[in-house]
Amino acid sequence: MIFNIGRVPSEKASEKGRKMKIVLYGNPTLRKKSEQVELSHINDELKKTLEEMVTLMRKANGVGLAANQINIGKRFFVLEIEGTVKKVINPEIVETSEEMAEYEEGCLSIPGIYKKVVRPEKIKVKYLNENGEEKVEELEEMWSRAFQHEYDHLEGILFTDRISILNK
Ligand code: CO
Repeated sequence: MIFNIGRVPSEKASEKGRKMKIVLYGNPTLRKKSEQVELSHINDELKKTLEEMVTLMRKANGVGLAANQINIGKRFFVLEIEGTVKKVINPEIVETSEEMAEYEEGCLSIPGIYKKVVRPEKIKVKYLNENGEEKVEELEEMWSRAFQHEYDHLEGILFTDRISILNK
């Protein structure tokens, strides 16, 4: 997810020479429901991938990046808001507020498109961090917004799917 127009890098080479690249709108990976991460796969390799995702997200001026946006069909994503990073594995949204909020969203996979999206204002979430520890948090404002946007990615949903017909 992004909130302002940023330059989107085409690729990043890791130490191994493997290239992590953001896939764009139209790529079928973005439409597939991602699979749960097995506990045995929460290891140093996944930590490294999450750290690379944070680097890529920063370069692209994003506040969130989901695994399927780099062509990995697993349920994890990274967020960074005002200097705080969250690395989120196997997330669940366990409660949503009745109050809704509208905010303009963008997506690193849909460059240049910014639209207002209505979502629950607050959410309660459960997930595993990069050490496999369970976290339960109540999120609001930007954290709630970005978490819901990235969670949608894992379900194969894009923010443009949530735009009311009047705003399209
Ligand atoms: Co996005």
